Amino acid sequence: DLAKQQQAMALSEVMSPAADWYKQQLKKNTRAIDYLKGRGLSGEIAKRFNLGYAPESWQGLEAVFGSYSQDSIANVLVEAGLIIQSEAKRYDRFRDRIMFPIRNPKGQVIAFGGRILDAGEPKYLNSPETPLFSKGNTLYGLFEARQAIRDKGYVIVCEGYMDVVALAQLGFANGVATLGTACTANHVRALMRQTDRIIFSFDGDAAGQRAAKRALEACLPMMADDKEIKFLFLPTEHDPDSFVRERGAPAFDEAIRQAMPLSSFLIQVANEGHDWNTPEGRAQTQHAAKPLLLSMPAIALRAQLIRELAQRIGITPAELESFCGFKPVVEQ
Ligand code: UTP
Ligand code: MN
Ligand code: MN
Ligand code: MN
Ligand code: MN
Repeated sequence: DLAKQQQAMALSEVMSPAADWYKQQLKKNTRAIDYLKGRGLSGEIAKRFNLGYAPESWQGLEAVFGSYSQDSIANVLVEAGLIIQSEAKRYDRFRDRIMFPIRNPKGQVIAFGGRILDAGEPKYLNSPETPLFSKGNTLYGLFEARQAIRDKGYVIVCEGYMDVVALAQLGFANGVATLGTACTANHVRALMRQTDRIIFSFDGDAAGQRAAKRALEACLPMMADDKEIKFLFLPTEHDPDSFVRERGAPAFDEAIRQAMPLSSFLIQVANEGHDWNTPEGRAQTQHAAKPLLLSMPAIALRAQLIRELAQRIGITPAELESFCGFKPVVEQ
């Protein structure tokens, strides 16, 4: 609706000047520059992602927007999530943090993520949900990655800001991030608008494993035979950033080549915690596979999966189809 559109427009007008200001502040702060250098990032990459720095100040953005005591501007800044209003006090949300501007597919800044330089909580502070920004619809780095996704022919989906930026630094400019949230159907739809090939590369820890399962579930309803979806599992202690910096780009390339196809991952997820070698384990695998198969459209890959799973479970494909409730294919 119009009112909401106008509100979003007002908000977007303060985001870009704020991003410019954070960017200028980075140039003046050696501690922040050294932090980024320490993480292996060049000035060129910082520029490509418009990285910035929010100084350790409670009213820093007044330098851009004027006094926070002016309600007209302060209200917009509060709505945009740049300043926090607490009773009579108004102060900057982002203080002493490395700033990652999050852009929409048109390139407009819609939100920020801010990383603390030292240890502390929260490690990343993000813009709140606003009329401009909803986490479940946004992929960090998609705007910056578009051309590289086209050139390379696939997208790498990670969890974090630093993964995207570090991958770009080492030659994988086709990375985007879900920002630590579950991969949603909207994320997958946005990705599929760009490419038919998706590689998920979440952190190697338990949270990353869970994220991969959620991504599988989000992808299944949108699967088609011309799509190629794979899962790259990193060693437990790594995320794409640490892996590519420690082992180098060729090692990550190799990991990409060896990524697990969606079909294998689906079978692994169905069988997780169950034993192929007992009737009970095979039955439990069959039970767990049912909702996954059901959420997939009737494509050739589903038929292949049914054949393979049926064989491993020790029943016929027709039995597995009828167990899942699929209508049998009528022979002419
Ligand atoms: P991680 O904890 O894996 O952080 O969270 P990271 O990206 O590897 O960060 P570095 O390498 O320590 O700098 C993954 C993502 O989850 C979101 C961020 O988007 C982060 O990049 N997150 C994490 C938050 O929003 N807030 C947090 O406090 C932590
Ligand atoms: Mn993590
Ligand atoms: Mn990391
Ligand atoms: Mn991580
Ligand atoms: Mn189970």
